Amino acid sequence: MQLSFMQCSINVTSACILVTLVLFLDNGNGLSVKNVVDSPLSTQKLNTNRTIKVDANGQGDFKSVQAAIDSVPNGNSNWIIIHVSKGVYREKVHIPQNKPHIFMRGDGRGQTIIVWSENSEDSYQSATFKVEAPHFVAYGISFKNEAPIGIAHTSQNQSVAVFVGGDKSAFYHCGFFSSHNTLFDYKGRHYYDNCYIQGSIDFIFGGGQSIYHECEILVIANKRHEIRGSITAHSRQSTKERSGFVFVKGKVYGIGDVYLGRANGAYSRVVFAHTYFSRTVIPQGWTNWSLSGSTGNLHQAEYKCHGPGSASTNRAPWSKQLTDKEATPFLSVDFIKGKEWLPAWFF
Ligand SMILES: *[C@@H]1O[C@H](CO)[C@@H](O)[C@H](O)[C@H]1NC(C)=O
Ligand SMILES: *[C@@H]1O[C@H](CO)[C@@H](O)[C@H](O)[C@H]1NC(C)=O
Ligand SMILES: *[C@@H]1O[C@H](CO)[C@@H](O)[C@H](O)[C@H]1NC(C)=O
Repeated sequence: MQLSFMQCSINVTSACILVTLVLFLDNGNGLSVKNVVDSPLSTQKLNTNRTIKVDANGQGDFKSVQAAIDSVPNGNSNWIIIHVSKGVYREKVHIPQNKPHIFMRGDGRGQTIIVWSENSEDSYQSATFKVEAPHFVAYGISFKNEAPIGIAHTSQNQSVAVFVGGDKSAFYHCGFFSSHNTLFDYKGRHYYDNCYIQGSIDFIFGGGQSIYHECEILVIANKRHEIRGSITAHSRQSTKERSGFVFVKGKVYGIGDVYLGRANGAYSRVVFAHTYFSRTVIPQGWTNWSLSGSTGNLHQAEYKCHGPGSASTNRAPWSKQLTDKEATPFLSVDFIKGKEWLPAWFF
């Protein structure tokens, strides 16, 4: 790990050390050191020296995350770091379209937590954290919606932790916690690296064009609910839409049975590659639930997955096991043109 104080702006030096320590601990989780993003990402790659500090105990510039965001000028064109010190922030947060180039850094996903509790019929409305601005990066933060599970059988069944609606957003070492509809990956190109996502039903959903690299997915059961949940519900209505959810490496495990995906739109596109599946992934793998027409245009696909849930024998007949050639377009950040805009990527 190379980290020199020079690379951190003066007033966040201690925060940089903290982030580094958290990453060393994370390494116990089977990550290789070369895949670890450290905090010079913020200062070197994004080339910024502006930092706003949020501290729940009043030691920073603001006590709430939203107040810090409100202080960013409209149309902001230089990257700005908002460092959110360790603590639990009970608030809904919204980054509107006109506040791009925000890099939000926490002290690690076990340390910096933004949490709210809301069920709604409307997924967007329910979200604890909404980012609609392009050029957004989050690092080492947990986002939670603590709405009680078991309420899903009513119409107030959406409890989104994060809504991502802007183009060019990246999340490194973040956590997403809820049950029903955890991560609303709505629209735009997104990258999630070494993130943790938990939920029960349709918990990664929307029309995003996204790569999930080395993410950990925990399936929690909701036994009070009749339907079996799906990890993904990707919506795509035609071949013209470039969207798709691509999972590379990482693992899926949990308590309760789950589908890898349900078709939300006739052209729904999801790929799991090189991913570990525990038995929590049921043999059929994929469902056409809510799709009334043909399954012929679905792209529900796997490539070289492993683990007890990966057997392909009883998979839904329309689902695909990709060949090397078919998998190639999904196996690099070129799928989201990442080399043009990501501060860091790993494959
Ligand atoms: C901070 O960055 C801005 C824009 O890049 C630059 O104009 C300014 O001189 C820098 N300030 C310091 C203290 O480095
Ligand atoms: C969630 O509520 C909507 C109505 O708002 C309903 O159509 C849908 O079936 C519900 N989903 C589940 C899984 O209960
Ligand atoms: C949808 O899935 C069900 C259950 O697996 C299956 O019986 C049905 O044939 C599928 N529909 C199409 C169009 O493949």
